[in-house]
Amino acid sequence: MNLLFVGFVAVLHFQSCKTVSGLHFKNSPGNITSSLGKPVEMQCVLMMKDGDEGEEGSPDIQWLREGQLLEFSDTNQVQMLSDDETWLVISTLRIAKVQLSDMGAYRCAVDTGDNKTKSAEGHLQLEGLPHFSVEPHPMSIIANVSLSLQCVAHGPPEPVRIIWLQDGAPLNTLDDPIALSPSRLNLTGLNKTSSFSCEAHNRKGVASSSSGVISVLPSQPQDVRAVETTNSTIRLSWSPGFGGIYAINLCTLQVKPSEEESIFNLDHMTHNQNVNIPPASHLISDLQPFTQYNVRVACRSSQGVSDWTPWVIVSTNEGVPDSAPVNLTAALNGTELLIGWAEPEGKINGKLQGYIIEYNTPNTEQGESLHGSRTRTMDPVSDHVSGFYRYESRSYSSPPALFWRWWYVVIAVAVAIGMAVLMAIFMAKWRRKETRFG
Ligand SMILES: *[C@@H]1O[C@H](CO)[C@@H](O)[C@H](O)[C@H]1NC(C)=O
Ligand SMILES: *[C@@H]1O[C@H](CO)[C@@H](O)[C@H](O)[C@H]1NC(C)=O
Ligand SMILES: *[C@@H]1O[C@H](CO)[C@@H](O)[C@H](O)[C@H]1NC(C)=O
Ligand SMILES: *[C@@H]1O[C@H](CO)[C@@H](O)[C@H](O)[C@H]1NC(C)=O
Ligand SMILES: *[C@@H]1O[C@H](CO)[C@@H](O)[C@H](O)[C@H]1NC(C)=O
Ligand SMILES: *[C@@H]1O[C@H](CO)[C@@H](O)[C@H](O)[C@H]1NC(C)=O
Ligand SMILES: *[C@@H]1O[C@H](CO)[C@@H](O)[C@H](O)[C@H]1NC(C)=O
Ligand SMILES: *[C@@H]1O[C@H](CO)[C@@H](O)[C@H](O)[C@H]1NC(C)=O
Repeated sequence: MNLLFVGFVAVLHFQSCKTVSGLHFKNSPGNITSSLGKPVEMQCVLMMKDGDEGEEGSPDIQWLREGQLLEFSDTNQVQMLSDDETWLVISTLRIAKVQLSDMGAYRCAVDTGDNKTKSAEGHLQLEGLPHFSVEPHPMSIIANVSLSLQCVAHGPPEPVRIIWLQDGAPLNTLDDPIALSPSRLNLTGLNKTSSFSCEAHNRKGVASSSSGVISVLPSQPQDVRAVETTNSTIRLSWSPGFGGIYAINLCTLQVKPSEEESIFNLDHMTHNQNVNIPPASHLISDLQPFTQYNVRVACRSSQGVSDWTPWVIVSTNEGVPDSAPVNLTAALNGTELLIGWAEPEGKINGKLQGYIIEYNTPNTEQGESLHGSRTRTMDPVSDHVSGFYRYESRSYSSPPALFWRWWYVVIAVAVAIGMAVLMAIFMAKWRRKETRFG
């Protein structure tokens, strides 16, 4: 019935603009409403007088969708005699499983010399349950951080309205503005791992999206710092971040030497340790003195692991030099004793600040120390490579200032000097002392 009606319209339409040759479409494609995946068939009937065939026999009927030639479509053309002098050419277009992209206006056309004869247009419409092009998928987010989810569902028929479900419970009604597809759900944050899904409603019914579980991970730990350092240990503390309703009870701590120290061994971790919290602090031991380390922390709840903090640089305190200075020399020149040495060969473990010279004479019970510098040799910066200390006997009586905060390199000087010379010096000193104080 419908087809007949369409044919009637088409005939009416084409009778007015019939070409000289008498070629015209008797039936045009009708309006069809189908649903996704169904087979669809459309038909055109061309009327042709006996003389219209031309040399090539019957003309080829072409199919156009939205004005574009369909070159690879499944078409079938048959020709039959209608009466003594009229031929009917019937072309059928088949679509096995109709897709959204097949929707549109269809028409037939046939080439007649320079001009095309075209049929009327018929529309292919699809209708059915909504289908989703964007739906929630599983992902991880950080606790209490805002997020935005999207559901997009299409008809036809439009409009499609969306209801959001969190753990099965609806979050909106069909009348809310957020319901209109495409729909975006903005959340200020989540404290609990939840499953989100959408329902799409249109005139034909309701479709459900897949559901996406959104896991809530702890936020990044904050404020990693060294609270207590010695020459071989560092106590770190940090704030573990927020895990939503899930307790954070384990953090992982990584320690590696800083870039310059680890240039040949960039990925070597000195420590990679799990620490139960609280308390959110940990003592890292077995470190090198006077060394910079990079540390970072990530924490874990039952839902997963937070991001790492950025690397934080911490350093150990200075230590004492590994070994004593070397190549000690002492030479007596009249009343002067000349002492020389070379820098220690082991690690300094800090900034070299000076040397301590200790000496004794056979007649003194305890060794006497000279800390620091009354002569040039004690400059820690320019003179640390080698030491040279001139001890003048005349100034011996006033004890040198003590430099308690210096790093003390102890040189034990055993001055083996002939007893006669020593006694001479000793007596000279005593005499002067007695004259000064006596
Ligand atoms: C087919 O549908 C179009 C609009 O989609 C309409 O303009 C046209 O009149 C319809 N044709 C028939 C034969 O129903
Ligand atoms: C093509 O159509 C135009 C008008 O649309 C007409 O003037 C012309 O004669 C036609 N040519 C042929 C070969 O039919
Ligand atoms: C959660 O986020 C809100 C808003 O951004 C903020 O006011 C609140 O302090 C946060 N709570 C925690 C525990 O981080
Ligand atoms: C959600 O946030 C986006 C921007 O991220 C904004 O364009 C949109 O209007 C928001 N939607 C609602 C319902 O607030
Ligand atoms: C999550 O919990 C924190 C602290 O209990 C609270 O400040 C925040 O408002 C909560 N956020 C949500 C989205 O419930
Ligand atoms: C580190 O310091 C302790 C005491 O503060 C000291 O006994 C130890 O020798 C030092 N170690 C190094 C390598 O400096
Ligand atoms: C110490 O003396 C030895 C032998 O004279 C020499 O080979 C070495 O280089 C000296 N060390 C330093 C640090 O000057
Ligand atoms: C020894 O002392 C004298 C006088 O103080 C000085 O002229 C001489 O250069 C010194 N010799 C050495 C090797 O330092």
